Amino acid sequence: MEERRNQELQHHQQQNKEEEEEEMVCLDGSFFINDDYKLTNFTFGSQQIQLFCLHSASTDFDLTGQLVWPGAMLLNDYLSKNVEMLQGCSVIELGSGVGITGILCSEFCHKFVLTDHNEEVLKIINKNIKLHSCSEDTSPTSHGLVAELLEWGNKDQVNEILQKHPGGFDFILGADIYILISSIPPLFDTVNRLLRARDGRKCKFILAYVSRAKTMDSMIITEASKHQIHLKEVVGTRTIVGNLEGVIFETTLE
Ligand SMILES: C[S@@+](CC[C@H](N)C(=O)[O-])C[C@H]1O[C@@H](n2cnc3c(N)ncnc32)[C@H](O)[C@@H]1O
Repeated sequence: MEERRNQELQHHQQQNKEEEEEEMVCLDGSFFINDDYKLTNFTFGSQQIQLFCLHSASTDFDLTGQLVWPGAMLLNDYLSKNVEMLQGCSVIELGSGVGITGILCSEFCHKFVLTDHNEEVLKIINKNIKLHSCSEDTSPTSHGLVAELLEWGNKDQVNEILQKHPGGFDFILGADIYILISSIPPLFDTVNRLLRARDGRKCKFILAYVSRAKTMDSMIITEASKHQIHLKEVVGTRTIVGNLEGVIFETTLE
């Protein structure tokens, strides 16, 4: 009797397993990626630029870089009013997203390195770099724009970039690059390394900060000062972007 009940139970379990397997659908990662980018126009001061981006967020939290964020609008607006500051300079941007800041700056910078940690985001950056290369020159570095993989806090990746660009950069730029609390310490570790990589000349870090949470507001200041980086608000830049408050911070090491 006992044995019969066990057999029935096993049979039932086997049947359940087979039904579950039949219901399973295999989906690879690409199923969740929306790469239906739209060619979009943006105006900053007298400058008009066109690039590919999404108009609404993807389902994947790590694909924030497929959109243009309010921070990039704030940063580009500020830079377009201060073009002379970047004239002929070398720049690295952290968390570039679709690359809107690099594309704006390629008009007046000598060199602009766009970086991101997400492979999918790097693909759209490269697509936008290509869109802006001169027709005769299809290399990804034309117009002084180049894309590099850089995960904040990854020492090896920063060193590789610094080997390719000895002497470092005149400017480090960042817009809306503090979405996760856990990414703030590695972000400032990378900023610190890049600021200190300068031999002789100074490097300036410009951060377009859009306030989304009070904890984040104080955390970026605290984390920066752990590396003796004192974020200074640029007078007159505090403004409303979308329905949030944004500001430009600038800093150079003393
Ligand atoms: C909110 S988006 C901002 C994109 C762009 N700066 C803008 O304002 O439109 C944040 C960007 O940072 C990148 N990012 C997030 N965490 C990162 C990390 N740990 N290392 C490097 N890049 C990161 C994302 O892939 C994304 O492109």
